[in-house]
Amino acid sequence: MKLRIISLITIALAAASAVSAKDDARYTRAELEKKTKTEFIDGLLSRMTIEEKIGQFNLPSYGNVKPDPKKSPLADRIRRGEVGGIFNINGVDDVIKLQEVAVKESRIGIPIIIGADVCSGYETRFTMPLAMACSFKPANLEAAARISAEEASTGGICWTYSPMVDVSRDARWGRSREGAGEDPLLGADMARAWVRGYQGDNLADPTTIMACVKHYALYGAAESGRDYNPVDMSRQAAMNGFMEPYRAAVEAGVGSLMTSFNEFEGIPATGHSWLLRDVLRSRWGFDGFVVSDYTAIQEMVNHGVGNADEVALQAFKCGVDMDMIADYYHDSLLKLYNANKITFEEIDSACRRMLSAKYDLGLFHNPYQYCDAERGKKENRTAEKLSVARRIATESYVLMKNEDGVLPLKNNKRIAIIGPLADVRADMPAMWRDGSATTYRGLADALRDQLDGVEVAYARGCNLADDEKMEYNFTDNKNNVRGNEAELLRVAIDVASGADVIIAAIGESASMSGEGASRATLELPDTQRRLIEALHATGKPVVMLLFTGRPLALQREEPLVDAILTVWEGGSKAADAIADLLTGRVNPSAKLAMTFPLVTGQCPIYYNHKRTGRPMAPEAWYTRYVSNYIDVPNEPLYPFGYGLSYTTYDYSNLRLSSAEMTAGSTITVSVDVKNTGNVDGEEIVQLYIHDRIRSITPPVKELKAYKRVALKAGETATVRFDLDVEMLKFYNADLDFVAEPGEFDVMVGPNSRDTQSIMFTLK
Ligand code: BGC
Repeated sequence: MKLRIISLITIALAAASAVSAKDDARYTRAELEKKTKTEFIDGLLSRMTIEEKIGQFNLPSYGNVKPDPKKSPLADRIRRGEVGGIFNINGVDDVIKLQEVAVKESRIGIPIIIGADVCSGYETRFTMPLAMACSFKPANLEAAARISAEEASTGGICWTYSPMVDVSRDARWGRSREGAGEDPLLGADMARAWVRGYQGDNLADPTTIMACVKHYALYGAAESGRDYNPVDMSRQAAMNGFMEPYRAAVEAGVGSLMTSFNEFEGIPATGHSWLLRDVLRSRWGFDGFVVSDYTAIQEMVNHGVGNADEVALQAFKCGVDMDMIADYYHDSLLKLYNANKITFEEIDSACRRMLSAKYDLGLFHNPYQYCDAERGKKENRTAEKLSVARRIATESYVLMKNEDGVLPLKNNKRIAIIGPLADVRADMPAMWRDGSATTYRGLADALRDQLDGVEVAYARGCNLADDEKMEYNFTDNKNNVRGNEAELLRVAIDVASGADVIIAAIGESASMSGEGASRATLELPDTQRRLIEALHATGKPVVMLLFTGRPLALQREEPLVDAILTVWEGGSKAADAIADLLTGRVNPSAKLAMTFPLVTGQCPIYYNHKRTGRPMAPEAWYTRYVSNYIDVPNEPLYPFGYGLSYTTYDYSNLRLSSAEMTAGSTITVSVDVKNTGNVDGEEIVQLYIHDRIRSITPPVKELKAYKRVALKAGETATVRFDLDVEMLKFYNADLDFVAEPGEFDVMVGPNSRDTQSIMFTLK
């Protein structure tokens, strides 16, 4: 009976608002100034029709609105109040025109929110996020996000689909480059910094933008590393290994969150009530709005959980407020409301979250405040901003091998840069907003600048891939002319033989990673391997300059080169930053945020794995009936946290302030780190914990703290970490976050493998 009365009231209210649909219901300046935020939003809600409220939930893509945006079908939809926001729009003029339609020509006058994937820079391009995570310096993410916000906010954009914080343990997954790698603690630190950088302290400031943490949840754990594939794991494995970065973003006040494409426990994440209601809203207290990923609501039909109305209902009931692209909310929600499947209150709550975000962004006060092309001309891509990109890049590229000090380049008169990626400038800027190739410097020029009087020669050496079809898949430049392999190699060897040192620029083009770019083989394409073999055979020192969006499997090539410097997708200042490191102007300091496997078959491979009941003996290579492979060792080529510099560090005297911890106490872990080489450097000191016995099996180790320490040549510093009981907590089988008394190993070292260990007891 009660239900029936409520629905009669809601139908009556809906009818009443439909009657007033012709009135001008726009807000006034006085209303905005006099009322508090809640009063203002209440006022708007009381004047909006159900259709207009549902309109706020639609997020169509910009599409083509030329020649006159105001006469486009999209403008008509905005005019009818059917659009809450748009994305993929380039150019302030079009934003202004469509915003004018929303504000001046729709009955309710609510501004639209303008989104974009600003994920590693806007005009100033930073190296890809996984690379930035390798700096183990959250301040770098914060600075990059700050500059991204300052720049994007001149182009009409007030909402970015970043940060992506999906933990990724499997380099086959093409989107590994977009996140912070395999560790939940590092990922969480990066997530907080990223959100702070975009949002600042005040979202209404025209130079800050709203962040959107994605993809919730567990998107990086796709089966077989294949994009969009199902994910299944226990809830405690999810909470312990994958969820912390999303939680950290929420804790940092992220304004919005995007659901993911994958299913979890047989339920699409976009309609998963445990993820979206129990964890996100109830446990973490998230009060921002939730947007689906691109057509993710529609894709629930393909997942096989219902028809269009049913999946729209499921997603909406879980608290997904905004429907990206699919228009399923547009087509179904009114029907569902009229059929009493969703309530007036549910629609109001979702609409309130949308309006609240727009209010916080200052859009009601000034809908055009993010359209400042003049500021953009003056302040985007300035020398100062580019120098930040360059510094961050030098702190993010990882030196993985350096035999006999072949790097930095010194006393070389002639350098040969050889490889299919040696002069492909379009591959430098990193994902999403690709600029034109001409904006980026070539590597040879950057090296010539820093090495006075040195001859720098270039040859392409080989194609990107052996097979034409593959090459086509591997590059954005569809006019790329393939060379004749024998001829390319002949020229390369000719150039190489005249040089003192060879820099082999190989790896992945930018299109080989990213969304929908999963790979089943992480080995280098054969043609690139043959090039490395031929360069090795010249007897000259070979430096592998590895461009890549993900860890690759370099088992075959690693022994053939003297040095390996991984430069990822490098950003606006890639060429100069690479030269900074190759010449030694800057000493490398980055450490891997993701494990480099030996061969693809080891994937997923990650340092914080479980021990098994039949662990390998540390010194063994293969033993029957223990958990190992018959054909390759368990160990990766380069473990998490690994990275070299042009100096060496010695760790000694690991000690604890006490061998016992109680619930309220803190233990200080100290270690002496000495720079034992001849150049100054920065070392990233890492602390791991191993819980010896607990109610659910513990990982072999987990990163709990890290510090970047600057050490002059010969200098020793005592590095201290404070440990408390919070750092020992984990989610138990009941998903309670607890620390269990017992013995813990503290491991400290330069990476996750080469650690020293000491023990304490939690009472
Ligand atoms: C991606 C998201 C992205 C969205 C909008 C989707 O395909 O998964 O990461 O934000 O498109 O461009």
